[in-house]
Order: sequence, then structure tokens, then C-alpha cells
Amino acid sequence: MPVRRFDTLVVGAGGAGLRAALELSRAEASTAVLSKVFPTRSHTVAAQGGINAALGNVREDRWIWHMYDTIKGSDYLADQDAVEYMCRAARRLVVELEHEGVPFSRTEEGFIYQRPFGGQSRSFGGDQAARTCAAADRTGHAILHTLYQQNVRAGTYFFDEYLALDLIRDDDGHVLGAVAMALATGELLVIQAKATLIATGGAGRIYRTSTNAHINTGDGMGLVQRAGLPLEDMEFFQFHPTGIAGYGMLITEGARGEGGYLVNAEGERFMERYAPNAKDLASRDVVSRAMVTEVREGRGCGPDGDHVLLRMNHLGEKLISERLPGIRESAKRFAKVDPVTEPLPVFPTSHYTMGGIPTNRFGEVVVGPDGADHDQVVPGLYAIGECACVSVHGANRLGGNSLLDIVVFGRAAGNRIQDFLARNRYHRPLPESAAEATRARLAELEAPPGSDSGGESPGRLRRELQNLMEAHFGVFREPEAMAEGIQRLEELGERIRAMDMGDRGAVFNTARVEALELQNMYHVGLAAAHSARGRTESRGAHLRRDYPSRDDTNWLQHSLYYLTDNRMAYKPVRMQPMTIEAFPPKERVY
Ligand code: FUM
Repeated sequence: MPVRRFDTLVVGAGGAGLRAALELSRAEASTAVLSKVFPTRSHTVAAQGGINAALGNVREDRWIWHMYDTIKGSDYLADQDAVEYMCRAARRLVVELEHEGVPFSRTEEGFIYQRPFGGQSRSFGGDQAARTCAAADRTGHAILHTLYQQNVRAGTYFFDEYLALDLIRDDDGHVLGAVAMALATGELLVIQAKATLIATGGAGRIYRTSTNAHINTGDGMGLVQRAGLPLEDMEFFQFHPTGIAGYGMLITEGARGEGGYLVNAEGERFMERYAPNAKDLASRDVVSRAMVTEVREGRGCGPDGDHVLLRMNHLGEKLISERLPGIRESAKRFAKVDPVTEPLPVFPTSHYTMGGIPTNRFGEVVVGPDGADHDQVVPGLYAIGECACVSVHGANRLGGNSLLDIVVFGRAAGNRIQDFLARNRYHRPLPESAAEATRARLAELEAPPGSDSGGESPGRLRRELQNLMEAHFGVFREPEAMAEGIQRLEELGERIRAMDMGDRGAVFNTARVEALELQNMYHVGLAAAHSARGRTESRGAHLRRDYPSRDDTNWLQHSLYYLTDNRMAYKPVRMQPMTIEAFPPKERVY
């Protein structure tokens, strides 16, 4: 098998991977970025509304108010040192993006335009802030293209359209790179690296309706699970309130930030009842829950009463065309509705994976045996962005904090890896067995050309997994439904093990890729299901009918799920910020 060698392998070419790669390439470390799709098709491109930083360009703002809102939004599950680090760094990183070439929208005075977003306040819960720096409603697109161009200029090497299959670890537990497959040909390749950084994004596609691209199949999370490492806080999946009903495409929170609002079948602006102060700009868990409650209680819109409406027509064509052109286009194309004149049918849709690979604020993967020694670093392994859990989002992420997360921790990991490379100047030898497990896994998937083993296709099994997750582990979680969901997952697992690509795998590589992605999705689904069943409280995006309250006495803890035997372990939330007093948990009202 061919071997390529680099100082650092970055798996994933979204904003997080590209920001880290830029730091490394500019420091003249040889850096390879491997991506399943061409880099500018990575899912960062779909981020619409903006990136948070307390610039104060529209209304006075402070990083510490941002920090308070983020911790409150997380329902007090975020690690407060990491949140302080992120909110303090925000201004510098956004200004840096502007200087790198991101074409932000402008205020009349020529400053970066900032819009109000959900869960934002001034003075620790006071009036609405305007903290989200926007490039119209295509902010992720602008950031991703800028970072890609800067990487090309800095000499980053790209493996485009490659899938990372397994991490390579030696007997001392050092991570030495990954085995990857070229999507076009199916050929395997070892990419040897002194440091390996996973930045593969989220796993929103384990649900049926999602704002996520079809590529978001939790591949990086699958990689670490197969390497025997846990995933953290996987019970917390964010449902974005405004997906186009029935389809799930994202309608940015910026639509409500600019003045849009939700109504039920009675024409009532129902968020006034659920969040009297913030109304439609309460945090996403609160708004999504309110929408589902309206539908369940019979106040849903449309012939089936299965959605609510987002009204924007009062905003006028000029504002919508200038500030929200992309969502006008999506609304027309998918819902056949022009929001300039008609209300848009919307319903919550899976959007963001709050949990992920456990890391510290330097992007180092931190775990230990049985989750007990949770500050032990896995040598040579890093993770950032949506696939990681640092944890700055806790039980519920605030809109606009994900683009911030990727640039802040992308830079931090890039710097940390440079320190690591200075101490580890030579490649460690690859174990003889580096690719054995991968070869065995692939062999199991192959059926001889023309044969029919009777197994089902990856596509059919994938749809079943998505429906199952949506029905049993959605916005509301019922004990019986979760128990049944886990049982059905076990049965589905048997069928996934027996799946059959027929000869499509050998002839067209796409079926092989679908099968490999499905294995990742299934393992992430198991993590989400077992973690949800294990957490006997309601917090943020995890709402249980049988435990409807938050329980700070027993549950200021992060969960750790291990694939082996579906084992759960727990570790305490880091409540102590870096330099200031902690924000203690209190009742969360908007
Ligand atoms: O609504 C949005 O524009 C999404 C932003 C985010 O998830 O941060």
C-alpha cells in the first residue's frame, strides 16, 4: 500500500480544518488536508446567519456578556474555561477573517454589519444584543472560500475526494496518521503523520430531516470510536427551529434576527407565551420545543396541521434582497413561497451535533481509562469543530457560535500542533499491522461480482436509521420510545452487518462509500441513543418526559459513550473560567 508522509494530516476541509491547516502551513509544517468532497463543498459553505463577536458595531457589546449568554444557552453544561477563551478571542479572529478577505456586509459607517441572533443579551440577560457578524446570509460560504484560497497560497497539500477509514495507532497509543481511500478508484493509501487532526464536522444526517449536507455522516466520530475512544455528550443534538417544513433546508435565524416572527394556525405570535422577553429570539432549544408543542396541541398550520409559519412579508423586498437573498431563493425553490409576499411553512430540523470527540481548549483529544482519568491526552491526536466537544456549547449551542468555534479552536489547535512538532521531530515507525483492520472491514463489505447474498442495500438501511432516530430520539424523549428505539437499533445493527452492495461496490465505488458512511452513522446513532437514555434529567436540547427538570445536583456532568459494550462514563463540567468568577447555574428564562 502506498505511504505518503506529512508533519500533520488534517481530516476534513471545512472551516475548522482549513483554519488549522493555514496556521500550520504558514509555519512551514508540511500539512495535508484530506476531504471527502472538494474543499469548498464542505458543509461550512452552508452556514448562513453569521459569526458571533462582541464588536459593538451596531449596539454596545462586551465579550463577557457573550460569555454569559453562551453559558446560559448551554444550560450550564459548557466548560467555562473554554467559553472564556472563545469569547475573548472572537474579536481578533473576526477582524483577522476580514483582513484575509471575507466580504462582510457593512453598516452605513462602513463597519462589519452585525445582526441580532437568538439567546443574545447585553448586561447579563438585559436587552437584545446584535452580535452576529454577517456576510448577507452566506457567511459560511464567504469564510470557507477565503480560507481555502489562503491555504492554496500557503502551500497546503490537498487530498480531494478521499475518505479516511481508520486511524493508525501504535502500541503506545500514539496516533500516526490514517488509512484512506480514493473515492474515484477505491485505492487505499496510508497517510503517515506526526500529528493527526480530525475536523470532519457533525452527524446531523443520522436524522431524516436535517439542514445538514448528505456528507455529514459523523465520519470523524466513527474513526475515534473504532480506535477505542469515547464520544462526549452525544445526547445533545440541536434542532434548528426554522427548517423548511417537510424538507429541512435551513432558513437562517437571521430571518428572525431581522424581524421575522413565528405564528400558529390561529395567527397567534405564540413565542410571546413561551419567552416573554426574547420571544422569537429565545435560544433554539426553547423555540423548537415551543413549535413542536404548538403542533402537538393542535395549533399547527396546513392541511395536516404539522408546521407553523414564519412571517417576513412586513420586512419588505429591499431588506430581504439585501440581507437574506439566499433564503428567499431556497424558500421559492423548495417551498414554492416568496417570503416577500407570503409566510413560509417551517418546522424544527436536525442541525448541530453539540457532543463529539472529547478535547481540551487546545484541540488535544483528552480521555482516560473508563473516563476516570479524563485529562490524559491521546498523543498525536487532535479534534476541532463540530466533530469535537471542547465543550463550549454544552447542552445547546447559540446560533453564530459554530463559525466562531471553528476559527478559534482551528487556530488554537494549529498552534498546539506546532509545539508538538517541535518536540516530536521524527516520524514514529508504522506498525506492521497499520492497515489490517481496514482491509478486513472492507473485505467483509465486498460481495463477489454478480453474487447476491440476500443482504439489504446501504441506501435502504440508511433511510431506516434516519427514520428511527427521528421517531425515537427527536425533540421530545419518552422513556418507552427510547427503550424501543435502542432495541430497534440493535436489530438494525445486525442487518447493517449483513448489508450487501451487490456488485455495485466493485463496479461503482459509490455503494462502497455509502456502506462505510452508514457504519459511521450507525455508531454515532448508538452513541446518541445510549447517552440519551443514560441522562435522567432535562437540559438544553435533551428533554425527557419522565425527568422534566434540570438536575444540577447530579448532572453537572459530561457523558462519555464507549462503543465497546455501549458503556457510559461521566466526568464533571469544568465550572471555573480562566480569569474571572464562574457563572453559577440559575433558572434559565428568556
Ligand atoms: O440560523 C443560522 O443561520 C444558523 C447559524 C448557526 O447555526 O450558527
